[in-house]
Amino acid sequence: MASVPSLAASLQQRVSAALTAAVPSADGADPLLRRSDRADFQANGVLGLAKRSKANPRELAAAVLAALPADELIADIEVSGPGFLNISVADAAITGNLAARAADDRLGVPTAAAPGITVIDYAQPNVAKEMHVGHLRSSVIGDAIVKILRFAGERVIPRHHIGDWGTQFGMLIQYLIEHPHELDHSAAADADGEASMSRLNRLYKSSRTLFDTDEEFKDRARRRVVDLQAGDQRTLEMWQRFVDESKIYFYSVYDKLDIAIQDEDIVGESGYNDMLAETCKLLEDSGVAVRSNGALCVFFDDIKGKDGEPVPLIVQKADGGYGYAATDLSAVRDRTGNLHASTLLYVVDARQALHFRMVFETARRAGWLTDEVTVRHLPFGTVLGKDGKPFKTREGESVKLEDLLDEAVARATAVVQEKGEKIGLTQEEIAANGTQVGIGAVKYADLSTSLGRDYIFDLDRMVSLNGDTSVYIQYAYARTRSIFRKATADQQAAAHPELPLAPAERALGLHLDAFGDTLAEVAGSYEPHRLAAYLFQLASLFTTFYEQCPVLTADGGPDQVANRLFLCDLTARTLRQGLSLLGIRTPERL
Ligand code: ARG
Repeated sequence: MASVPSLAASLQQRVSAALTAAVPSADGADPLLRRSDRADFQANGVLGLAKRSKANPRELAAAVLAALPADELIADIEVSGPGFLNISVADAAITGNLAARAADDRLGVPTAAAPGITVIDYAQPNVAKEMHVGHLRSSVIGDAIVKILRFAGERVIPRHHIGDWGTQFGMLIQYLIEHPHELDHSAAADADGEASMSRLNRLYKSSRTLFDTDEEFKDRARRRVVDLQAGDQRTLEMWQRFVDESKIYFYSVYDKLDIAIQDEDIVGESGYNDMLAETCKLLEDSGVAVRSNGALCVFFDDIKGKDGEPVPLIVQKADGGYGYAATDLSAVRDRTGNLHASTLLYVVDARQALHFRMVFETARRAGWLTDEVTVRHLPFGTVLGKDGKPFKTREGESVKLEDLLDEAVARATAVVQEKGEKIGLTQEEIAANGTQVGIGAVKYADLSTSLGRDYIFDLDRMVSLNGDTSVYIQYAYARTRSIFRKATADQQAAAHPELPLAPAERALGLHLDAFGDTLAEVAGSYEPHRLAAYLFQLASLFTTFYEQCPVLTADGGPDQVANRLFLCDLTARTLRQGLSLLGIRTPERL
């Protein structure tokens, strides 16, 4: 493992030193180095510095330039415009740096010097309920963030805060007690998630009907809630059956989504039951929460309803019941106090923003969250239908996640079918590709939009070969593999820093070199869409390179062939690593 600083980082350091040499008081000033179309990089930091030190910006730029002689890194440097520095790096430096990356398993990407413990709350469906498209985002985004953080060296503890507790279970359990065979199934069908969900749905509907029409059943259901909360053995056993049945279903959907969930990370709302009373007592004793009309509430000066009345966080209802807030507060205590988290992340729908704001503020007042702990709600937007409204079926029901995934795979299979046959893939291989492309497309569409934004679920666009899609990137990867299959035995990838680079090679090379910097940024900002954008650009730059620079028939001789193969190989590895951090597979032949 050898981490490789990017050329941009090395350059940043040099220009920074040159700024200080030109204006000693500028120590630590940011040269504001950016990639640029004019040269490779442009440094804009001289302008601000000139303003602050009342110097002429072009003269100051010239002084910085004088302190930055051309060398093995910098091929060319000039002052332009009002005082920018245009900097081109040497071809040999680009290839040399990439060779160092290629020699490392991690492509030269460093791991965190001081990793912390991040507890991330994501993929939290609800027991006995169908998963819908809203559950997609939390799972896909959360899974990507877990992978990105782990790659960066962070210790990550996932928490799937599933909805597995509450008064609605009284009705279900009572019904199951009265109809004990409704959840029976043969051992053979054990792992069939769809069958599990339809059993749960059937049971839900029947119990609901009874609940709405039979007053006596309603009473028995209400009493069952009390039994559940009191921890009655038989009631808990029935409740556990719902949880187990639902897990079969969850796992089947996550399997389809190609997302790995560990059983020990599923700590649902019920997992905090033992802490709820204590959480309330601590809040009440410390005065953080007060009784208001019998309910235990926390008030906030700046949170008011439309009528101007304060909107409290209700920790315990007047009837003694604990709600969503009590559970989340107890979860904070557990995650900071027992799991020793240094960072808490919540990948949850933007519509819960107020809830989390109140929970975090309450936890701060109670001392469960200190300044040492970073806490972030990562709110995501809504998935919309083509009509721009929240995605629903024609009947107005939310769309089942499984149906959506199946359709994505079917569409993707149609897209890869023809080419697949042309390159001689078996139907089995085509089907496998269709799955990887279809699921990849759904994930990529989700991850390539910035988290907070809504997006339109449009399968036609998602599986399109042209445009900002995962299949475009997957094709670029497959193309690199096909080049290697066509290479003769003496055509091997090898870096040749002594060779001059064509413009498309430089552009590709400089972008490859930015992989580690991009990952660092993404891990720091929890913004997977930046990684998606990076990979799409990488695939585009590779496509241009492929069109402009023949690889196996390069006219510069065997060394140039080797160097271009080297660029293909590093591109392939970077695409594969990057997509895998987004949870997207890379078929070898497409
Ligand atoms: N189960 C909830 C839902 O489906 C999401 C849970 C979010 N996490 C939390 N700690 N509150 O909306």
